[in-house]
Amino acid sequence: MKAVKKAAPTVVVIFGGTGDLTKRKLLPAFYHLYIAGWLPEEFAIIGMGRSSFTDEKYQAKLYEGLTEFSRTGPPEEEIWETFQGNISYLQSEINDAGAYQKLSEKLDSFDQAWGTRANRLFYLSIAPQFIQAVTTHLHETGIAADVQRDRIIVEKPFGKDLESARYLNHLLTKNFQESQIYRIDHYLGKETVQNILAFRFANALFEPLWNRNYIDFVQISVAEQVGVEDRGGYYEGAGALRDMIQNHLLQLLCMVAMEPPVSFEAEEIRNRKADVLRAVRRFTPDQVNKSAVRGQYGPGWLQGKKVPGYREEEGVDPQSNTETYAAIKFYLDNWRWQGVPFYLRTGKRMQEKTSSITIQFRPVPHSTFSATMSENLLPNRLTINIQPQMDIRLRFTAKRTGLEMELTPAEMVFDYDTCSTQTPEAYETLLLDALQGDATLFMRSDQVEAAWEVITPILETWESRTPLEFPNYSAGMWGPENAEALIAREGHTWAVSTFYDGKPKGKEKEKV
Ligand code: BG6
Repeated sequence: MKAVKKAAPTVVVIFGGTGDLTKRKLLPAFYHLYIAGWLPEEFAIIGMGRSSFTDEKYQAKLYEGLTEFSRTGPPEEEIWETFQGNISYLQSEINDAGAYQKLSEKLDSFDQAWGTRANRLFYLSIAPQFIQAVTTHLHETGIAADVQRDRIIVEKPFGKDLESARYLNHLLTKNFQESQIYRIDHYLGKETVQNILAFRFANALFEPLWNRNYIDFVQISVAEQVGVEDRGGYYEGAGALRDMIQNHLLQLLCMVAMEPPVSFEAEEIRNRKADVLRAVRRFTPDQVNKSAVRGQYGPGWLQGKKVPGYREEEGVDPQSNTETYAAIKFYLDNWRWQGVPFYLRTGKRMQEKTSSITIQFRPVPHSTFSATMSENLLPNRLTINIQPQMDIRLRFTAKRTGLEMELTPAEMVFDYDTCSTQTPEAYETLLLDALQGDATLFMRSDQVEAAWEVITPILETWESRTPLEFPNYSAGMWGPENAEALIAREGHTWAVSTFYDGKPKGKEKEKV
């Protein structure tokens, strides 16, 4: 094991301990932190849930999840044997005061055994309607009262609109200090997303160009191939706007658009990001029609397989008007970004799984060469590929070697694979930060509310108008046609994820 800065003795209490997130993400993340040597000797996980499990049965359930979802494959038996000794289970009803009393005793027993008051991390992987009960009980039993040592991690969805988010914030801040509250957005833990800060602020090269004078437009695109899987019930009340844009995509926008921070202190970074959200121009209902496009997938084909439409998915109303796709043109009203469109789009059941950020710099003021590149091979383009491809590419025009003056697109590429073979998952980064008390990558209450302020006018306008055209894209396509029109008005097209591979083909080869 490497010598790393271990966290202090900690007990993690997971509300929703039998849920999907625990088995797919949280437990594998803790396990990887353990094998990498980040966890302290004195470490325990207590799963809380309504089902009845013995500790052994609960450990076995998590083992199955780990075997299926671990990024490094099934765990080594010997390591798992030791690790599972840290895991226990407490059957509990969310509203049962007795359960919190038992939890309190259990937590005390760890403190006694370890001879220290351990840090306590309460992970709320539960639906928002249960947060009130849990936080009130935590407060009343006093088990999360140590402001320095006790932290509450809150999973999304954080509310369903501005009002409910404010209420949740009120509930949380009534019982805890803001510094104890860690609102998670797993996109911020992704390696490629964190690197945006390093890329922008650890290099002098890009920052002078990073503004309206040089940047033509920005695109942030998160396309998924999956449909709603078994989450139809949840998704019906959410839709793409709440599920992805309000949190993940707006956070990516903040990383791209924020001002350079004075330091890397959590509050400083969070202030700069909150500034971005405050600068996003708010929509009137009329502007929503011009600047936002929604879609819902119908049946179609993906990777050679027929897939059902959204309305045929389990748990979904056959008349559903929930959007599974959203594309929005935002503007930021500040000095750096005035007039630069930020196109955000996300969709389920799209042709490919690909998340990327495209920064398109302005063309040369006067072209000495007569021919132009096709749109998708435009030079002056920086692409930050977030997943599954992980790289940063700068595309420019070069002269093809030879006797004639032929132009060709060329790319400089930073590929993560050349630096590391094992990329930690987002939850590993975020859980370690929470263990160490670093809230930089977590959302503060004002950020969450500002993001809802941006989204709410769009939500309200969409909810007030029935989308008669739904479903308006087939599974396996790139979304509805009017999403193309949305940005074509400015003379732009959506960046596609087919990358130039260095070989000239057809249109890409331009002759002067
Ligand atoms: C979640 C959404 O927050 O993010 C899901 O609720 C979505 O609907 C998921 O599929 C995407 O995350 P990732 O890390 O797979 O891009």
